[in-house]
Amino acid sequence: MKWVEIIEKMTLDEKASLCSGLTFWDTKPVERLKVSKISMSDGPYGIRKQNDDDHYLDFHTSKKFICFPTAAGMAASFSKELWHEFGKTLGRECRAEGVDVLLGPALNIKRSPLGGRNFEYLSEDPLLSGSLASEYVKGLQEEGTSACVKHFAANNQETRRMSSSSNIDERTLHEIYLSNFEKVIKEAKPDTIMCSYNQINHTFVSENKWLLTQLLRDEWGFDGTVVTDWGAICDRVKGLVAGVDLEMPSSGGITDKQIVEAVKSNQLDEKLLDKAVLRILKLISKHKQKECTHADYANDHEIARKFAEESIVLLKNERDLLPLPNRQIKVAFIGDFAENPRYEGGGSSHINSWKIDSPVLLQKEWSKIEFSYAKGYSAESEQIDEVLLKNAVLTAASADYAIVFVGLPDSYESESYDRKNLDIPAVHNILVNKVMEAQADTVVVLQNGSPINMPWLSKVPAILESYLGGEGVGGALLDIIFGKVNPSGHLAETFPMRIEDTSCYLNFPGHRDEVNYQEGVFVGYRYFTSKSIPVLFPFGHGLSYTKFAFSKLKVSSDEYMEGNRLQVQILVKNNGNRKGKAVIQLYVESERNFLITERPLRELKAFDKVELKAGEEKVVSLILDERAFSYYDVDIHDWYIAPGSYKIQIASDCNHVSCEKSITATPYKRKEMTISRNTLIGDLLENPRTALVMEDGLPDLLAYMGVTLTLDEDGHISRGSIPTFAYELPIRSLVNFTDGKFTEDHVIKIIKRLKASYDEKGDT
Ligand code: BGC
Repeated sequence: MKWVEIIEKMTLDEKASLCSGLTFWDTKPVERLKVSKISMSDGPYGIRKQNDDDHYLDFHTSKKFICFPTAAGMAASFSKELWHEFGKTLGRECRAEGVDVLLGPALNIKRSPLGGRNFEYLSEDPLLSGSLASEYVKGLQEEGTSACVKHFAANNQETRRMSSSSNIDERTLHEIYLSNFEKVIKEAKPDTIMCSYNQINHTFVSENKWLLTQLLRDEWGFDGTVVTDWGAICDRVKGLVAGVDLEMPSSGGITDKQIVEAVKSNQLDEKLLDKAVLRILKLISKHKQKECTHADYANDHEIARKFAEESIVLLKNERDLLPLPNRQIKVAFIGDFAENPRYEGGGSSHINSWKIDSPVLLQKEWSKIEFSYAKGYSAESEQIDEVLLKNAVLTAASADYAIVFVGLPDSYESESYDRKNLDIPAVHNILVNKVMEAQADTVVVLQNGSPINMPWLSKVPAILESYLGGEGVGGALLDIIFGKVNPSGHLAETFPMRIEDTSCYLNFPGHRDEVNYQEGVFVGYRYFTSKSIPVLFPFGHGLSYTKFAFSKLKVSSDEYMEGNRLQVQILVKNNGNRKGKAVIQLYVESERNFLITERPLRELKAFDKVELKAGEEKVVSLILDERAFSYYDVDIHDWYIAPGSYKIQIASDCNHVSCEKSITATPYKRKEMTISRNTLIGDLLENPRTALVMEDGLPDLLAYMGVTLTLDEDGHISRGSIPTFAYELPIRSLVNFTDGKFTEDHVIKIIKRLKASYDEKGDT
């Protein structure tokens, strides 16, 4: 039977009933018409499937599944390939367990390092988070499981997440907080998307028709199902009108009745309900008669280990202390996390893990090494235990090397609340300092879902950031520490020196429900680089046991015409003596021109990762399209490329550019300009449609002000020869400054000519 026929056969009650859940995780069936129910589970970095009798708030008793590294770590892999495999592996497990929709990936932007759920999110950069999340969605859906991309949108904090209003200007919203979702919607076509709890500019997302219908469906072409975050509905009927198809979890039928009443009383057009029902039926049909396949958990556990290996970031490695030699040496593990790793986050994404590998447990894989272990502190407690500390120092001193495991305990970061500061427990800091005093060859291993303060940074020779590395993290860490694997993770976020340095510091988490995103587009590294603010570790930072060199940067053209694509090629060479994976980061720096909208100094526009044997070199190609050069312009309510020059840069992190090339870009999109007496000369010179008219006669006029203009090679006025004050003169002021040569009559005439030229060149 066709969908339309099924809908025609449905009663109003049946249709309304489909629009909310049956239980916490399932949709409602309509047995009479053979419409089955489908089942959802959290995500995003493993399956949290509850047993039938588990209470929904019990995050710890669900079925056992593989726990992969959380997105904060996985994003540090900078690997699209890995994220694709991530999706596929989860997809296979979902299929084996009858999970139809997995609630992930979660890709909100990390506006502040204090965000309680940052461990679950990918990055502060929309391109990186959108590109990697797209691969996850593709992989998952290729295995027959629907993705539910969340939390759409601008849900960047946990404090008052169900009531706060993210007050964001139009440009920032599009460039930073929506473009990651846009990428996933357009590239990966997820079957579902989850609307978030919060308000955007004082409208609840679940009632935001502009966001859920106009932008998401009409502009971006999303044709899947909009699902609410659990309990995000405020007014069910308004939600349906705005574009919310499925309310989760069950409302006990209360909101279904509201829909029925609204149709009966002509408050709601039944056709709108039919549209939502059609979308839900289409989703259900994707999971009809799906065969459950087998999942090989032992194999997936090894995949989790591999993911962790590729996500771990080598932050510091003085004296090339790492890797440690795999021979008869004494290595002391210090810290409770060595035995009981902090490897996953808290809240709805908490996985009841299949098997947890700790470094202490897996030391047996390294038979030549003589290991010792001292707990140092208890992960559950803030108390300083002098006996534990003393024992740790003695253990470290009697070994050749010490590896200290510290970071954020569970209670420090979780869904539902934000962090108050960047500190790790005082006892962890004391432990690092004391061990360092006793053992100069100390490596610090960090386990945390988001940036932290490192008061001992300058003293410690080597630091590994393992994030929340999933259940395979223990083995992965040992493989990296002893050099079986060469670290290749790069930070997908900035580690600031101080929380006070972050751009949203004064507005996070806002004042009651008002959260003003006053920092605009200057989020994360976009802010630190633009203001040259020193950081602990910059976005993109990550060391390796080998050295990579980037050279021979080639760009397919030195001019970019909007609508085209540029090919960028870079030669990457492994100059060291061991195999490794290089991350290629391409940033675009736009010319700093005060006439053009303020832009961040540089922005990541493409990236890739390649493996190279010792001494090997490879040419890596990256593609740039119009988004690489454009910003969101509020005058035209669209993306726009400002004419001018742009540097294409290959960098080892956002602060260190290895090679660069300048190109010019030319827009074709119309940017409407109002030409009046008050229009500035500079604006008219910058607009290709008015520039020539303005150039004509300008040298003579400016000569009256003692300004001599020069011409460039093409015979145009050299922009560099125009002083700033002249750029900022309105047309009308030429009357005042040209000693009567330029009259009111001239003003009228030139405005006429400018307007004519502007209209005539409208399509160019
Ligand atoms: C979270 C979602 C999650 C849902 C179901 C909500 O509180 O925000 O991420 O998928 O609960 O557990």
